[in-house]
Amino acid sequence: MTIRSLFPTRVYTARLRPGGSLALDRRLLAECHQLRADDAAGRRWSIENYHGGYTSYGSVSRVQTVSPTFAALERKLDGHVARFARSLAFDLKDRALAMTDCWVNIMPRRVAHGLHLHPLSSISGTYYLATPPGAPGLKLEDPRLERMMAAPPRRAGARGDLGPWVVIPARAGTLVLFESWLRHEVPANRVAGERVSVSFNYSWF
Ligand code: NI
Repeated sequence: MTIRSLFPTRVYTARLRPGGSLALDRRLLAECHQLRADDAAGRRWSIENYHGGYTSYGSVSRVQTVSPTFAALERKLDGHVARFARSLAFDLKDRALAMTDCWVNIMPRRVAHGLHLHPLSSISGTYYLATPPGAPGLKLEDPRLERMMAAPPRRAGARGDLGPWVVIPARAGTLVLFESWLRHEVPANRVAGERVSVSFNYSWF
């Protein structure tokens, strides 16, 4: 008897620390806070679209092009994205995956980010800079969920990869990559400390 798992949904996680990135992380975190202080347009955008928190998604969405610190992060991420693309068997002959967008997210207590996709992108991901104990992870949804019209629910204790949702814990210094069509959300932050992350998209041209 053989049971195959077909058409896998792959998620890549890696730790950028250790490896000398702690100093870079400190600079990135300082720039995230500075950006929030300086970016009045982003703070206004966040009131409507990221209630209670701050994101530069609507204002400084290509921060890697204006900050050498974020450009240094981009160079670190490029290798991980290339490795993930190889594991997905992407044929990138005569094409290249390149970072298109990169933005900052600061989530104080009670801020959540509802279910969404990253359209017009190939690979998306997040790098975590500050994750106070108890801060929410990244909740991924089974992409086949809307097809499961008469499927029985799955047992509460089912093996992680058989459940309808999987939460990837958020840990400072850790990177998560996924294909951009994979729907995901960040549940509300229930702890007092701010959760700070950098999200990004890569597209192929
Ligand atoms: Ni997202």
